Amino acid sequence: MNSPTILVKARNLHKRYGAGEKGVAALRGIDLSVAPGEFVALVGPTGSGKTTLLSLLAGLEEPDAGRVVLAGQDLASLSEDGIADLRGRSVGMIYQSINLFAGFSVLENVGLPLRLMLRPPFDAHSRARELLAAGGLTSLAARYPADLSGGQRQLVAIARALAADPPLILADEPTANLDSASARQITGRLRGLVDDGRHGVLLATHDLRVASQADRVISLRDGQIVKETALGAGRPSREVLAELA
Ligand SMILES: Nc1ncnc2c1ncn2[C@@H]1O[C@H](COP(=O)(O)OP(=O)(O)OP(=O)(O)O)[C@@H](O)[C@H]1O
Ligand SMILES: [Mg+2]
Repeated sequence: MNSPTILVKARNLHKRYGAGEKGVAALRGIDLSVAPGEFVALVGPTGSGKTTLLSLLAGLEEPDAGRVVLAGQDLASLSEDGIADLRGRSVGMIYQSINLFAGFSVLENVGLPLRLMLRPPFDAHSRARELLAAGGLTSLAARYPADLSGGQRQLVAIARALAADPPLILADEPTANLDSASARQITGRLRGLVDDGRHGVLLATHDLRVASQADRVISLRDGQIVKETALGAGRPSREVLAELA
């Protein structure tokens, strides 16, 4: 049986887009798992399969072969609704930019996942306030996304990803358009979540400085894992960056 402590597990995942000669093998036999208390970075050049892997792990797309076990459940055994329900409870997703709804305030954005789960407005709002406080964002509650900096938007997106209290966070280049100070803030927030021992993070990034904050770095190339690097805490960052490069 699958250990219930593993947040997500992939076994021999294959995914192809398109048919015949023009088709692309986006993933070619990926194995990985993420446990609570683990911060795992996924690095690799453009087109190496990072986004594809994250969408398969979240059950947003189906693999051609192999399996995904999310929160102890084999996705192949669930209906589409069953997958959506499981995803809502067990995964928080953060993307590069399209994260917040422009017509909703920060507070409303953060509470939105709960409203979509048909929780009463009062519960959604009080949970959203709690999450904003935890992220040091209380003063932004009434603002709209257009009035936030890129870094603030991503911090709000993290708060929203946590609304339903999912143990796993999947983040696809969350620091891509950000200056290095904001990138450090986002990475620090994710690192803090992982260090509480209950959450696990899998984060795709091009930025080796962001990746250097992870516990483990998985390097993808052409849909395959070509290297896996364990990073011990407290090592000089120059040494770590050289090892990742
Ligand atoms: N919906 C799709 N239809 C066709 N091909 C796709 C689709 N999605 C991804 N691909 C192809 O699959 C491969 C992997 O793409 P993917 O987006 O996973 O890479 P990535 O590592 O996330 O790249 P980036 O760093 O640019 O975000 C690429 O060759 C891409 O062109
Ligand atoms: Mg991508």
